[in-house]
Amino acid sequence: MKNGYDHFMLKEIHEQDKVIKNTIGYYFDGTIESLIKNLPDLTKYNKIDIVACGSAYHTGLVGKSLIEKFADTEVNCEVASEYRYKRSFYDKKTLVILVSQSGETADTLAALRKAKEDGIDTLAIVNVVGSSIAREAKYVLYIKAGCEIAVATTKAYTAQLAIFSLIAIYLSYKKNLLTNKDLLEIVKEINNLPDIINKTLENNDYIDIAKKIYKRDDIFFIGRGIDYALSMEGSLKLKEISYINSMAYAAGELKHGTISLIENGTPVIAISTDNNLREKTISNIKEVKARDAYTLFVTNEYIDSDFYDDIIVVDKIHELLQPIITIIPLQLLSYEVAKLNGCDIDKPRNLAKSVTVE
Ligand code: G6P
Repeated sequence: MKNGYDHFMLKEIHEQDKVIKNTIGYYFDGTIESLIKNLPDLTKYNKIDIVACGSAYHTGLVGKSLIEKFADTEVNCEVASEYRYKRSFYDKKTLVILVSQSGETADTLAALRKAKEDGIDTLAIVNVVGSSIAREAKYVLYIKAGCEIAVATTKAYTAQLAIFSLIAIYLSYKKNLLTNKDLLEIVKEINNLPDIINKTLENNDYIDIAKKIYKRDDIFFIGRGIDYALSMEGSLKLKEISYINSMAYAAGELKHGTISLIENGTPVIAISTDNNLREKTISNIKEVKARDAYTLFVTNEYIDSDFYDDIIVVDKIHELLQPIITIIPLQLLSYEVAKLNGCDIDKPRNLAKSVTVE
């Protein structure tokens, strides 16, 4: 049932407050003991390979950023269709994490089987209970997102992000990189998360912005670090459901070719939530603005300036949780753009919810 929403995608976007509460609450009651009890012992691994497809791959990229930064652990993240055929450099202290909403994606399943054949431990982050990937992996963490109908994933994506946040918290604590004081602060933020998600969902400025970009042939997303990973998901969401050509670039890479595509009015959506990289990203936005691009600045800190045409400000929360909030305006913007273009939002052409063939 759509519960009064025009599309399942919109309904699922609006379920994210409850989903995140469920996902986190299933594993974490605010104490580190609960994480130790509910997560496998991840401290025995010194390297992690994250393998997935599509949006699940994008959550892996966010997970990589969080685990590397907060848990000081090396993480490699790759698309399953490449990983399954290439030489792997793992050893007995490597954990291979497979991320999949459906738990049935053929390439991800093949990557799991390859790791198992090589005797490597595997952990599945999956939504569908009892699915092939969940059954075959050594460990499984269910994301508890509930049934997702829309082909373009939203609530399962954010629930996967939440699992990676928990993994980073757990590893960081175990490695003495997170103090009890930090943990208390994180717990406070986790408790506020559903309200912050709701507040972000209630903002409907996105329709006006969608009207400015929905007729364009090309839309670019840029960001650095974790914001680059979010840009990739924002761009995928947009192209999946609106059929507009969209690419995500590491902001600093734009000058090495892609900037030649910027012309009068080309939309460039820049994501910037990482304080340490903000000035660098802003200088990249200025480069495209100087070439008459339309710029949308998505940030967690308001800046009064003329380098952007429009700004979306999301709440600033702990870095470990920030991606869950930052992606929401991008989901809603894609939805509005697709709606203005009259697209079949829940069942986009040529796409399937679960890709069980290679
Ligand atoms: C398909 C879907 C994507 C999804 C990808 C991976 O291409 O259209 O939305 O991200 O498969 O699916 P999975 O079920 O493995 O997460």
